[in-house]
Amino acid sequence: MWPNDRFIKLCGIELPIIQAPMAGAALSDMVVAVSQAGGLGSLACALLTVDQARKELETIRRRTSRPINANFFCHQPPRDERAREMSWRQRLNAYYIQLQVDSSTSVAQSASASFDEKMCDLVMEYHPEVVSFHFGLPEKKLLLRIKRAGAKILSSATSVAEARWLEDQGCDAIIAQGFEAGGHRGMFLREDVSTQVGTMALVPQVVDAVKVPVIAAGGIADKRGILAAFALGAAAVQIGTAYLRCPEAQISALYRQALKSTSDNETAITNVFTGRPARAIVNRLMREVGPMSDLAPEFPLAAATLAPLRAKSEMAGSADFTPFWSGQAARLSRDLPAGELTKQLVAEVLTNLRSLQIGATSSGH
Ligand SMILES: Cc1cc2nc3c(=O)[nH]c(=O)nc-3n(C[C@H](O)[C@H](O)[C@H](O)COP(=O)(O)O)c2cc1C
Repeated sequence: MWPNDRFIKLCGIELPIIQAPMAGAALSDMVVAVSQAGGLGSLACALLTVDQARKELETIRRRTSRPINANFFCHQPPRDERAREMSWRQRLNAYYIQLQVDSSTSVAQSASASFDEKMCDLVMEYHPEVVSFHFGLPEKKLLLRIKRAGAKILSSATSVAEARWLEDQGCDAIIAQGFEAGGHRGMFLREDVSTQVGTMALVPQVVDAVKVPVIAAGGIADKRGILAAFALGAAAVQIGTAYLRCPEAQISALYRQALKSTSDNETAITNVFTGRPARAIVNRLMREVGPMSDLAPEFPLAAATLAPLRAKSEMAGSADFTPFWSGQAARLSRDLPAGELTKQLVAEVLTNLRSLQIGATSSGH
């Protein structure tokens, strides 16, 4: 039925649609809904403690027996760069004064930890059928433990070189993440954002370069994007931003409204929120300090300095200092429950695939 069924066979799922892991936004409700619909629901664990991740996995396993994906960040720990942090603080000082925030205020923050032994133990306990990573891969011994337990390993590549590297390290499938994608760039071999590749150019070049199945990600939000991904040689799509409009997404009303009203050219790649490049809807901080700033400390340190400002402005109903991660195709998304969205996308794609085939036959091709 599908032009390429390598990924659905690899993971034992029905539909070649992965709901993208979205740290801070996609928890058990979303994962269960998508996996129950036949796609692959992904639990983003990057901002969860081990206990919080355990609770989510417990809920998911109780509510569905379908395959699921658990996703982790695996960044290098930040270097100790006090001078840079001081400069960052100074750059933000005018905002601290304006908002009357004490810069020494500490604000409780989500974990943002890299994948480690404890998270690996948790993976062993709940055996997600798929484990995916962002920013490369974890250390070899942890990766081997997961592989030996039978989970399929996925990671994001933003270039052909990254895709080849991931395949060499034993990834079972590669997520080709184009420049259009919302959230953090998975880039890990290079830091230069200006040379990052769009989905249309990246996917076929990655398909040509690796033997494992390729998943297209970035700017895909409706049947046209999915059909295009298959035409480019992908075996599945990973969709993030379009799932943010679902009621299961754990995002604020302000964020939801911004996604509804944003246009194609209102997002940008920025490092000012966390220290790593990520695509978000342009706001005051991005306009005035970024979108890219050499002063931003390494991931995830930039976020800590910003946290008190963010908390104060959010209390006043403002999103001046809050990242609203979004891809370039937010306007193509719709308000639908995640399970329905998954099924509707697939139904639309299949109808189109059939009519394309009929068209091809009747014109003699
Ligand atoms: C709100 C948000 C949070 C994200 N968090 C993660 C994450 O925790 N782990 C991950 O691997 N990718 C994350 N991503 C990136 C997605 O995996 C994917 O590459 C991207 O959503 C695809 O582009 P699209 O948003 O245009 O569909 C996130 C994306 C968004 C929009």
